[in-house]
Amino acid sequence: MAKLTGSKKATQFTESVIREMTRLNEMYGGVNLSQGFPDFPAPPAIKEAACAAITADVNQYAVTWGARPLREAIAREFTRRYGVPVVADEQVTVCCGTTEAMMSTMMAIVDPGDEVVVFEPFYENYGPDAILSGATPRYVTLHEPAWTFDPDELAAAFNDKTKAIIINTPNNPTGKVFSREELETIAALCRKWDAIAISDEIYEHIIYDGQQHIPIATIDGMADRTVTLNGLSKTYSVTGWRVGWTISPPSLTGAIRKVHDFLTVGAPAPLQEAGAVALAMPEDYYASLAARYQERRDVLLDILERHHFTCYRPLGAYYIMTDISVFGFADDVEFARYLVKDIGVAAVPGSSFYKTAGVGKNKLRFCFCKRPETLAEADRRLEKLVPAGVTLH
Ligand SMILES: Cc1ncc(COP(=O)(O)O)c(C=O)c1O
Repeated sequence: MAKLTGSKKATQFTESVIREMTRLNEMYGGVNLSQGFPDFPAPPAIKEAACAAITADVNQYAVTWGARPLREAIAREFTRRYGVPVVADEQVTVCCGTTEAMMSTMMAIVDPGDEVVVFEPFYENYGPDAILSGATPRYVTLHEPAWTFDPDELAAAFNDKTKAIIINTPNNPTGKVFSREELETIAALCRKWDAIAISDEIYEHIIYDGQQHIPIATIDGMADRTVTLNGLSKTYSVTGWRVGWTISPPSLTGAIRKVHDFLTVGAPAPLQEAGAVALAMPEDYYASLAARYQERRDVLLDILERHHFTCYRPLGAYYIMTDISVFGFADDVEFARYLVKDIGVAAVPGSSFYKTAGVGKNKLRFCFCKRPETLAEADRRLEKLVPAGVTLH
């Protein structure tokens, strides 16, 4: 019976806390501000394109590395926006979400013993991604309140064994948008140590206060050593479609495509057709997406601050990190469970974004990719929440 156990790899990480919170929320009938998916409809034009593709019988496997119309749209848009030439046939691989794009990239480029630099706090998938691909993660702190890194600390994390660095801008969970200067610092280290930048840019269009998204592939000498990841999930509010992609230098594309092929064969064919339609949305679609999210950010900031949370104001993505020390709970997990069970609002414990034990235990992350009515209901429920040592009359 000793063999009826999970692998060593699988025992090194726990179930996703974010998805656990969504399940608890369903159990207690709460308002779900934990997992980052919209509760409003996706744009009609792309839903119609998906239905039309199914009706037209685009129902069999697409080419394993992605249907041509979508790959060409991805290459065209990246070049048009950022001036970096991309050849669809040599550089674009469509995957089952950015999640698979990250996993396929890591498995394609990392050997056991290779080190991968990861900024902490990080999107929780990067930990298991590193373990499953055999990488040894090297964590570098993003320091509060502006979530900046210390260039010396970053430089100290690079060495001969460094194969890659994972960047996520705009950033989940912090809302940080990496500046050109920061990206230049990272790029210089990548060039010095011959390392690859893996850049998760899934919140590319969700950016506030006049900030600008800068792909690290646009920094001098980086197009040849960057794998850019993105997907339909956040930009087009279709997180359930599972369509994402990599843009890689031709020297890495073959390895990524092989891993991708044997992991998943391919992303859903009709949804790739709809993806090509999505990428051709007019420019005002993106402007209004960002404007609507900025409004909701401001609404949720106001709600949380009124209910005694200390908030870190995000400049991109759709999450707010908060400090929960004032509530006097032993840790973030206990507080998150209380919040979903007794107050009826689900959020994500901060520790799920940190490897260093104890660091996230005074934090909670809320998302605001929700209808105004949903945020208003959260506001109403949070009325019951009181800081430690205060009694309600
Ligand atoms: C930083 C980041 N990358 C990737 C993903 C997952 O993307 P996808 O739905 O394309 O797999 C998320 C989802 O929350 C995310 O926050």
